[in-house]
Amino acid sequence: MNRDLLALHQPLHVFDEALFESVVTDLVEKGFSIQENGLPQFVVDALITCQNTLNSREYKTAGIGRADDFQHAKSVRGDQICWITGSSEEGALWLSWCEAMQQYVNRSLFMGLFSFESHFACYQPGKFYKRHVDAFRGQSNRVLSLVAYLNDEWQQSEGGELVLYRDELDNEGISILPKKGTFVVFLSEQFPHEVLPATRARHSVAGWFRVNGSVNDHIDPPK
Ligand code: OGA
Ligand code: MN
Repeated sequence: MNRDLLALHQPLHVFDEALFESVVTDLVEKGFSIQENGLPQFVVDALITCQNTLNSREYKTAGIGRADDFQHAKSVRGDQICWITGSSEEGALWLSWCEAMQQYVNRSLFMGLFSFESHFACYQPGKFYKRHVDAFRGQSNRVLSLVAYLNDEWQQSEGGELVLYRDELDNEGISILPKKGTFVVFLSEQFPHEVLPATRARHSVAGWFRVNGSVNDHIDPPK
């Protein structure tokens, strides 16, 4: 089924609006939302099915931007990524859930979110992503970040926390274990964060809602 057809069959009300409302309330109060066990089961199932169809050749070493050389990139982040295109029914279901969240946030907060992009990420044991922000004000159209976790029975002793810092001066942060079913949403320009090394492979999905940065002939995002 293509994406438009799927969207017709999945009107907004089939998604849990109470969950989106809780995300919106958190965003207003704190700028971030941590939803332990928040991912609906059908979303978890879709992502895991989708991920299982990927073989290791489809994961590419992640970069950190146009200007950086490979060695430098490796010292900053060590994950392998694979973009989610929505070409499978499961991938499309994930994207339609994210689109429903986008619509809900736009209706509630007038954020003007315009598009969404996301990738699977796999961190092998010992790999990390150093403290960073997903977007610099005025330099990017990423405004809202979403990270979802797919790891069964993750234990604290295994590490791999996402640490979310409240601002540039915060060195303590809030640690989130990458447990299956947990998802986190935060304002992309506001919250530095990092991924700590783990003792086992760590699977996540990272996504970004973007605003339309198109001016004149330059189409941004390219869609
Ligand atoms: C990212 C990121 C966090 C995570 O990909 O930008 O911060 O927990 N990921 O995987
Ligand atoms: Mn990030």
